[in-house]
Amino acid sequence: MAAITIRGAELSDLPYFYDICLKTGDAGNDASGLFYDPYIIGQYYAAPYLFFERDLCFVAEMDGVPQGYVVGASDTPAFNRWLESEWLPPLRRRYQNYPHEKIKTDVEKNSVALFYRKLDPAGEAERPFYKTHSAHLHIDLLPSLQGKGQGRALIATLLAALAQKSVRGVHLGVSHTNAGAIAFYRKMGFVSLREENWGLVMGAHI
Ligand SMILES: CC(C)(COP(=O)(O)OP(=O)(O)OC[C@H]1O[C@@H](n2cnc3c(N)ncnc32)[C@H](O)[C@@H]1OP(=O)(O)O)[C@@H](O)C(=O)NCCC(=O)NCCS
Repeated sequence: MAAITIRGAELSDLPYFYDICLKTGDAGNDASGLFYDPYIIGQYYAAPYLFFERDLCFVAEMDGVPQGYVVGASDTPAFNRWLESEWLPPLRRRYQNYPHEKIKTDVEKNSVALFYRKLDPAGEAERPFYKTHSAHLHIDLLPSLQGKGQGRALIATLLAALAQKSVRGVHLGVSHTNAGAIAFYRKMGFVSLREENWGLVMGAHI
């Protein structure tokens, strides 16, 4: 029987975060073949959370190796401001010199473009659900860990940690093509808050 534990994330989990993010990055499937630089997707969707609010990052470890995580930020506008002031500027400088001829796919091109998207206060006004669902999260488990109840356990762990911080609501984004994740989130009590052309914003009260 595999030994599975959930624990708070450490900075030394960082390589696993990049790896898991890439291997689940194509609407839940392995995105390794889509990128020249395998770290790009984790630069946006996984790594920054370990530095912004690590007490809202949790790892599911199976047989001694991290194979899944959930990451959260309790105050999304504050997180966006931190991305804008701290996290993104060095990435913007670095990826300016990115060898564009090496870019493998539109997915990679769009992921690089995310670094240059301005996350300004006007954006917050366009997202009224920030008021009721201020936190947001990302959850990813490698296929080896899926279907074992660990997604549910990670969400419960994060929601408990958010409750400790008196956060009242959490939201997330999910691609229209990731039907499995949408079904999972509905089981976890999330409902659709908004339809976008890329997918759904879903939310839950805590
Ligand atoms: C989506 C994901 C987080 C679910 O975690 P999981 O550990 O596999 O799910 P669990 O085993 O905890 O399942 C919890 C419940 O959700 C349901 N569920 C989970 N995955 C499902 C799927 N693909 N389709 C339908 N229902 C699903 C389970 O049946 C279970 O319901 P039950 O409690 O009534 O039996 C995980 O599969 C994953 O990381 N997938 C790849 C990455 C991804 O898509 N992340 C989300 C990006 S937005």
